[in-house]
Order: sequence, then C-alpha cells, then structure tokens
Amino acid sequence: VPYSRITGTGGFLPSRRITNDDFVHMLAARGIETSDAWIVERTGIRARHFADDGVNSSDLALEASRRALEAAGRSAADVDLIIVATSTPDMVFPSTATILQAKLGVHGCPAFDVQAVCSGFVYALTVADAMIRAGSARCALVVGAEVFSRLLDFNDRTTCVLFGDGAGAVVLEASDVPGILATELHADGRHAGILCVPGTVSGGQVSGLPLLRMDGQAVFKLAVGVLENAARAVLAKAGRSEADIDWLIPHQANIRIMNGTARKLKLAPERLVVTVDEHGNTSAASVPLALDAAVRSGRVQRGETVLLEGVGGGFTWGAVLLDF
Ligand code: ACO
Repeated sequence: VPYSRITGTGGFLPSRRITNDDFVHMLAARGIETSDAWIVERTGIRARHFADDGVNSSDLALEASRRALEAAGRSAADVDLIIVATSTPDMVFPSTATILQAKLGVHGCPAFDVQAVCSGFVYALTVADAMIRAGSARCALVVGAEVFSRLLDFNDRTTCVLFGDGAGAVVLEASDVPGILATELHADGRHAGILCVPGTVSGGQVSGLPLLRMDGQAVFKLAVGVLENAARAVLAKAGRSEADIDWLIPHQANIRIMNGTARKLKLAPERLVVTVDEHGNTSAASVPLALDAAVRSGRVQRGETVLLEGVGGGFTWGAVLLDF
C-alpha cells in the first residue's frame, strides 16, 4: 500500500469548563494569586476542561473514537489497529488502548499505548502510518487522550493553569492516494528533567512526586527551535515548501510558541489553528482535538496540506505533513 490517509476525525472534551477567573478563586483559597490577564498574556489560555472524578482517559478516548469512526463511515469492527497516545493512562497496566478496545466492543486486533507526552499523537500517527504502509494494518484508530488535571499541583501557579483534559482521534486507512506525505520524530533524553512527573508506583505505594514539574522557560526555548527544524525536515522529505502549507496545527501549549513557529515558517496568522484558548494544553490530545475542530468548522478541506507538530516531555518532538 503506497499511503495511509485520514478518513475521519473526532474530538471530545469533558463538560466541566474552568475559566481563568475560576482559577483566580480556586488559587485564592490557597493564598495564591493569579489573574486572567497574566494567563491570557503569557499563554493565550482562557479556559480548559477538567474531567470529573472517575472519568478516565479511556472514557474520553471512547467518545472521540466513536465520533472519528462515524465521520469515517466506519464501525469499530472495521478497526484492525488501535494506538492510544497518553501520559495519563487509566492504570499502570494494561494499556489504555486495550481498555478502549473493550469499551468499543471489539477484540483481537493489536492495541497499545505510545508514551511521548505532548508529542504522543505525532508519534502514534507515525507508527500507524508505518504499519499501514508495511501491510500490517488497513484501518487504524489513532487516539490522543489525557486527564492531565490528575497530575497538576494546585499549589504551583506556574503550571496548574496551563493544562486541561480531553481526547482526539483519527481513523487512518490504507489508500492509493496521499495521505501522509512525510513524518519526522526526535527525542533527547538529556532534557528529561525540565518537564516530568517523577513519581512511580512501587511496593504498593507511590514513590516520588506524582505531580507535574516544569521549567517553563527551558521548555519554551527548546520548543521553538525544534519545531522549526521538524517542519523543515518533513517539507524537504515531501519535496514541498513553506508556501504549500495550508494549515499549521501545532501542539497547543502556548500561543507564543505557536505564533513563533508560524512566523519562522512565514505563514499568515490565519493559517494557524488555535484551540489552546479554549482547551489549554491537553498534551497528546491537543493536536487531534485541534485537527477535529478545524475539520468540523470547515476550515480544513479535503486535499489541503496540513502540518501537524508535537513537542513535549522527554524531550520529544516531531512533525507529520499530510494531504487531508
Ligand atoms: N499567575 C500570575 N503570575 C504568575 C503565574 C500565574 N499563573 N505563573 C507564574 N507567575 C509569575 C512568576 O512567579 C514570575 O514572578 P516573579 O517575576 O515575581 O518571579 C512571573 O510570573 C514571570 O514568570 P516566568 O516563569 O518568567 O514567566 P514566563 O513568561 O516564562 O511564562 C510560562 C511562564 C507560561 C510557563 C512559559 O514559560 C511557557 O509557556 N513555557 C512553555 C511551557 C510549555 O509550553 N509547556 C508545555 C510544552 S510541552 C508539554 O505540553 C508537556
């Protein structure tokens, strides 16, 4: 099979919407100051969604998957590969992908998680594309699903305001026409410490800190450079240029990083898909959620060229260039 191609997209956000002003009140109760103006100016975030207790990544993934399957005109029984990108799995094991598979009411096909934090969806899509082109699958469900609210330290105003919960999914199918044009993945484990949840489960207890820690400025500086390089790499592989990009859909972490990337690629601001304002940073879910929002609003049209980019903990980063 020469190509894989996205045939449907879906997204799902839990209903509980937390505005910046809600955060002002929540943090004030802990004696911590923040403001809507600070959060909007430094990040572009106005609101995020948090899942209720007991709602897990697989639940969000299930809703997003159903919507993607419906958009693709497929049923769960057609799926022969399930990959879930998540850093907030339901359990230590088994994988969230196997739990999702059971919730979809199917069995037998391979299902596994990919862990690359905020680059997770770009990693998962790259793996699914390779498996389809190798003939190991024909109809893959590729999902990013997170409940990052579970990892937040609500005594740390520099991180707790940034993240949200949600899931996005695509159906990726074998195709004679493009499709995914080029992919590029990278990691540099020397930077593991600048963005991590250091804790783990051991001896019947949580050992180490089970909350997110981030050196925001270090992440910021690394992110802008690597995103530009990954974009140029996929364009070169596909024999395309910056001018061919109809839509840039980067990981939705911070509007300043996203605008910086768009500027470096000389893209007009209206070519940048932005959902960080309403979703916050949903880690591996952010790219498929933004893609789905852009498809459903009629912005991304069939045949248009889309650049997806991820960057996050690890440090990991990557890009996927595709004709939608
Ligand atoms: N409300 C009010 N003030 C705050 C808040 C807040 N929520 N958070 C921090 N401040 C204060 C700081 O304490 C500091 O005060 P001080 O000057 O008195 O010490 C001041 O604001 C400036 O803080 P900085 O950290 O220098 O602010 P900066 O402009 O760097 O913005 C931010 C911080 C938003 C975290 C930025 O560094 C950033 O976005 N970095 C990238 C982070 C990111 O994108 N991470 C995710 C990517 S990977 C992934 O998604 C997992």
